[in-house]
This record gives sequence, C-alpha cells and structure tokens, in this order.
Amino acid sequence: MEQAPSLRSGPHDEAWYAARASRGVQGLKAYDPGHDLVALRRQSGAAQLVELGSNENPYGPSPAARAAVLDRLHELHRYPDPLGADLKRALARVHGVGEDELLLGNGSHELLMMVAQVFAGPGAEVVYPRYGFAVFGLAAQAAGATARVAEAQPRTDAMPAGHDLQALLGAITPATTLLFLANPNNPTGTWLGADALRAFLARVPEHVIVVIDEAYAELADAPDYRSALALRDVHPNLVVSRTFSKAYGLAGMRVGYFVAPAGLVAVMERIRESFNVNLLALAACEAALGDAGHLAWVRTRNREERTALVGALQARGLRVFPSQTNFVLVEFGDRTAAVERALVERGVILRPMGGYGLADCLRITVGTRDENRRLLAALDEVLA
Ligand SMILES: Cc1ncc(COP(=O)(O)O)c(C=O)c1O
Repeated sequence: MEQAPSLRSGPHDEAWYAARASRGVQGLKAYDPGHDLVALRRQSGAAQLVELGSNENPYGPSPAARAAVLDRLHELHRYPDPLGADLKRALARVHGVGEDELLLGNGSHELLMMVAQVFAGPGAEVVYPRYGFAVFGLAAQAAGATARVAEAQPRTDAMPAGHDLQALLGAITPATTLLFLANPNNPTGTWLGADALRAFLARVPEHVIVVIDEAYAELADAPDYRSALALRDVHPNLVVSRTFSKAYGLAGMRVGYFVAPAGLVAVMERIRESFNVNLLALAACEAALGDAGHLAWVRTRNREERTALVGALQARGLRVFPSQTNFVLVEFGDRTAAVERALVERGVILRPMGGYGLADCLRITVGTRDENRRLLAALDEVLA
C-alpha cells in the first residue's frame, strides 16, 4: 500500500508550510515540554517514575475539587459556561476584585500568548528578562513583535542570575508595548522583594503593559515577597497572571487567570475562544478555591520538603539557587548532561536547562518526601 507522505519531509514538508506562515511564526521553535513522559512511563513498566521535571504539585488538588469533577460528569454533553461566571465570582471574592477584572484562560500559558497577540504585533517591542519563562519569548515572536531580552544579574553565591531591573528598564523604548516578568521566576526560582518590585513598577512608563506572572505566588513565603496584586490601584498598566496548575494541584485541568483593569480584560475578551475553560475545570477550580486549608497544607509541605531537599543537595556539594517556588535550580557544571541521562536511566526525570541557556544546571521539582528520597538515592549512585 502507498505510504501517506510525511508532513515533516517531502514536497509539502515543514519548511514548505513555514514559508507560508506569518513572519513571527517562521522564526519560532515550538515550546519544549521536556521529556516524552508518556513514552517513558510506558518504558518503565511497573516501576514508577519519579517525575520532577514539570513543577507539578505532587499532592494533587483539594478533595473538594475531585468531588466537584465527579459531580459534573453527567453534564459532559453540555458546553461549559462561556463566561465562567461562578469561578469568576469565587476569584473576585478571594482577591477582592471585580468580576470584570478577571480573564480566564486554558492555563495561564494561553493568556500569556493572547496578551501578546492583542497588545504586541509587528513594529511593537516586548521586553522580558534573560532566564525568564520560555513562553514570554514565544508569545512575543508568535505575535510578530520584536523581543528585547534584558540581561540578568551575573551569577553570584548570594543571588545567582536574578532579574536585573535596571536592565529591564533600560530595554524599554517608545515602541515597547508589553513587559513580562515572573515573580517568583521560573526557571531560577528566585524572587523580587516588595520594595524592589514597587520601585521598579513606579519607573515603568505607563504606555507599557506590565504582566507580572505569579504562577508560583501561593507558594512564596519569604518575608519580603508580596504579590503585585496590591499594586494594581497605583498602576493602571498592571496585569497579574495566576494559575491553578501549581499550588492548587490542577495542572491537568488547564486553568489560569489574569487580574487586570476591566478595560484591558474587555479588549482581550474580543479574541478569547468562547469555551476556552472546560466544564470540569471550571467546577474543579471553584471547589479548590473554597478549600483554603488544603492550599495552606500544600504550602507548608512544599516549604518543608524544599528546605530538606536544598539542604541535602548542598550537603552533596551542589550549588542550589535560592527558591520561593516548588522547584530548585541546581548547578551540576560539566557533568550536567551525563547526570541527567543517568538519572533518566534510573527512572528519575528532571528538566534539562539547555533551552534556557543554563546548560550547566538542572531544574528539580520538589517532590513528596519519598520522591525526593528516591531522587537523592539515584543522585548518589550517579555522582559516585
Ligand atoms: C512562570 C510560569 N508561568 C506560567 C506557567 C504556565 O502555567 P499554566 O499554563 O499551567 O497555567 C508556568 C508553568 O510552568 C510557569 O512556570
């Protein structure tokens, strides 16, 4: 039988289609999600993998979220509420904001792409920091905008590769429409203190929409950490991005949200796909928001395990970046690639950082006590 031509090679291959794509997309590389976990799980058979590559919450969501999902299974033939009104009401209560100041996304990833699509196009510039979340660059480029990457602070023992706020301000020009900054940051785990963030925002010109990505905010408990939500009154150009994927343990449900000025939300609503957040996800997130106890428990467990893991890694002579998240960035130097490969062979999955320009580091999600113990045991074998 004749073989169907591959879309990646042959007369109508990837290059053929790329030549027909918009300018921004022509130069893009697809988001690198790390290892093919499904294939690895299949290979490992009965032996469970230790999956510490994607900054997921190993404890899962509130039991109330699971119950809410089961409760809605009889409605699968219905479209979800296109307005997400119940979830917005719940979020508005939690954050003390108006429902019209909330935008729901199929993960915050979707909203980060959308905000660039709406506010940055050809001719516009988008500023974000070196070692910022990979989606910032993707969003800028896909929109056809020009990316301006601000250099990070040099690595030191005190605060390695932290955001250089001066460099970010210096990268802003009259053509800048959008600035992305994650606090705490992925992939470094580092954070900006409240004073630094306030002083920074005060110096960003009002024509620039600032998106502070707070995917890990619920897990941050450093005395100097504050959410940018408190600064919204002072800065009409401020957007705060949050997600249910991390502290709420609902990564599989794909829900994120923006807290932003009502006018900005209204403009972004013009391109939001009407049913972008599904029925089960809406129910799960609303229920999860109602269980503050579970969130507090996750936060405590994560802090305890993070502290223990950092100590154990440091005791092995490794340099660990300070973190306010559920992951740590660790320097392995020249042996990074070999260590990573050897860990995969032992069923331990971490995230290689070559794509971020940090090829001498691995990012390690803080797992449960048992997962961390298995990671450390495998690491001891590999480093021996
Ligand atoms: C900083 C940051 N922002 C946004 C996201 C995207 O989260 P989601 O699309 O699951 O809401 C992630 C995911 O890892 C992240 O690390």
